[in-house]
Amino acid sequence: MDTLIIRPNESIEAAAETILRGGLVAFPTETVYGLGADAFNPAAVRRIYQVKGRPADNPSIVHIASLDQLVDVAVDVPDELFKALRRVWPGPFTVVLRKSSKVPPETTGGRDTVAVRMPAHPIALELIRRSRPIAAPSANLSGKPSPTSAIHVIRDLMGKVDAIIDGGDTYFGVESTVIDFTRRPPVLLRPGPFTVEEIRGVIGDIVVPEFARGTREADVALAPGMKYRHYAPSKPLFLVECGDVEAMVGKAKELVERLKQHEGKRAAVLCSSETCGQYAGVTVVDMGHRGDLYEVARKLFAALRLVDDLDVDVAVAEGFPELGIGLAIMNRLRKASGFSIIKCGD
Ligand code: TXA
Ligand code: MG
Repeated sequence: MDTLIIRPNESIEAAAETILRGGLVAFPTETVYGLGADAFNPAAVRRIYQVKGRPADNPSIVHIASLDQLVDVAVDVPDELFKALRRVWPGPFTVVLRKSSKVPPETTGGRDTVAVRMPAHPIALELIRRSRPIAAPSANLSGKPSPTSAIHVIRDLMGKVDAIIDGGDTYFGVESTVIDFTRRPPVLLRPGPFTVEEIRGVIGDIVVPEFARGTREADVALAPGMKYRHYAPSKPLFLVECGDVEAMVGKAKELVERLKQHEGKRAAVLCSSETCGQYAGVTVVDMGHRGDLYEVARKLFAALRLVDDLDVDVAVAEGFPELGIGLAIMNRLRKASGFSIIKCGD
């Protein structure tokens, strides 16, 4: 099929009409690009899953543009949460709630709960306002990193969707924070740009299960999507985690050398701007300054996609502190490594 590429300076009216007709539109948000369809149209939502190759039991997030739309898609929203949402939305914060009967099972992977968020992006908001609440998983093929630029979407979905709105690079670069509010206290299902520290300030206490750190597989009943590896890089990825940065660089270098000597494998190192210079003679991918974890988050998925394109056999990634958005970075890196984690002292 022909995919229409829509530039941000053009009207997004055509894209909104496409959604209303049951078509698929990839659009930018402040986190990653989403692949959207009318959340109330089961056939349209089914097409998202076909195009992505996504398992039907992995539910999508419903994107809304106003709090009025929240009551259309969810029921039993606690009063305190409603007040908190007024403060944090629009933003990278997704809440899991009981679903309304209007939302078809296709959108929620057959569950009686629905994930909802109001994205902080003018294009996304205008698209929703001019159409309806939009069901959208990330706009990548299943198994690939989430797209953080229109180029990534074009590579994955060109010819398979009706339109792609090019809004440039996304702001945060990692997917939204997901919290299950059907449990008391609420449970963090996926760490994201809205940090645990910020959540505790606005919402109060939440549970951070071990799987949210990305150190092990999730409980499927609680977090349906988390049983699927977020993406499986086409090359093995080893993650080096050490408290001390110099020790981590030493450990990473040792691993690169070992892979070369014993297995004849060439490695690329995913490192930070502060440390990349220390890997002489090795292919490096700079993920940004470890002093600015927001920069690392923004560059993370492009770095992982780059590794797949490089002429190397494996990747070795440096770890980052789990503070703030660092928890989201480490969750994605640990999952990408398939839990191949090397620690100092090992
Ligand atoms: O930032 C984001 O969240 C992006 C943009 C496009 O909004 N979207 C995104 O969607 O990352 P997706 O489908 O790739 O990730 C949504 C996650 C999945 O892990 C899914 O399993 C979980 O949210 N989820 C959705 N509905 C749920 C539900 N009812 N209960 C538990 N988890 C749910
Ligand atoms: Mg996704």
